[in-house]
Amino acid sequence: MRALHLVQAMALRVCLLALVGVVKSVDLACTDAEPQAPRDVTPGYTGILATRYEPYGEEERRNFLQANLHFHLGAEHKNDGEYDQAPPAGDLASTVAPGLFCKTDGLSPAEKLPYNFQHCKNVSVGLTYEFHWVFSSGAPGQLADDGSEGELGIADGLGGAFARTVNADVIVRGQVCLIYNNASLDTDAKIEADYADFLTKWRPPPAGQAVKYVGSTTGSSYNDNVCSPAEVNWHVDLKCCKLSAQAFDRTCKAMYDEGLREDLKPKGSRPPVDRRWVADVTFPLQPVCEVPVREGNSN
Ligand SMILES: *[C@@H]1O[C@H](CO)[C@@H](O)[C@H](O)[C@H]1NC(C)=O
Ligand SMILES: *[C@@H]1O[C@H](CO)[C@@H](O)[C@H](O)[C@H]1NC(C)=O
Repeated sequence: MRALHLVQAMALRVCLLALVGVVKSVDLACTDAEPQAPRDVTPGYTGILATRYEPYGEEERRNFLQANLHFHLGAEHKNDGEYDQAPPAGDLASTVAPGLFCKTDGLSPAEKLPYNFQHCKNVSVGLTYEFHWVFSSGAPGQLADDGSEGELGIADGLGGAFARTVNADVIVRGQVCLIYNNASLDTDAKIEADYADFLTKWRPPPAGQAVKYVGSTTGSSYNDNVCSPAEVNWHVDLKCCKLSAQAFDRTCKAMYDEGLREDLKPKGSRPPVDRRWVADVTFPLQPVCEVPVREGNSN
């Protein structure tokens, strides 16, 4: 009897280790994979694969913990008329695979002047980056006693999303920003105000201008043949945001202070996935009022 229990325990352990292996390393043939990301989020664009459930929204995201922030060179997602441009001619400051870019016509000559980044590496003014805030049901941060988000526990890469459970639910916020130089941000206080805790918060998208959908992890190691085995609930801003170089560099400083080293430079972009590997629909992302969670619990 005892021996049987031991065998069962060992079998369970082997299964769990195998599952960790799947989550962390095994790539799938796209013919065997669930819906992938990044997708074309242009309104009206449809994929082929069935969406099995309505993805998590803002309500759930608030109860998840942030595991990471990283950024890609260019947009991985695509929205026609917003982030849909080929990489600009000239120096991209990085050798990783570029994604899609925002138009720079709106920038004044002063806003295109180079900025001497102290904390971000291999980035440049006038280029576009897609920022990914990774939230997970299994991240190593701490929930405060009232259930609201407590201490930040972010780390390089996506491993933190699976720190406390191998089958974590993951929500990633994606926001595409064009970097411009704002010379009037000439004091630490002004930079701090413009930064506005970008480490943990995106620039709230205009009402009705963000979507959620079921996809996967991204990055340049996946394509239309080799797909990702890790499911992600995506929240994506449809507009090109403008982020000052000063606030970007302040963000990298905050990332450094949290212990991040690898994610201070851009990652390569996976091109938007062929519609054969994309979920049929996206859903509007409804914002939630920022009221304390579980207020009124007495103790
Ligand atoms: C980052 O920039 C340095 C200095 O310009 C360059 O030598 C290096 O190749 C760049 N790294 C990547 C990954 O592009
Ligand atoms: C540049 O920063 C100033 C001062 O904080 C701000 O008022 C202004 O709106 C910024 N410029 C742009 C184009 O956002």
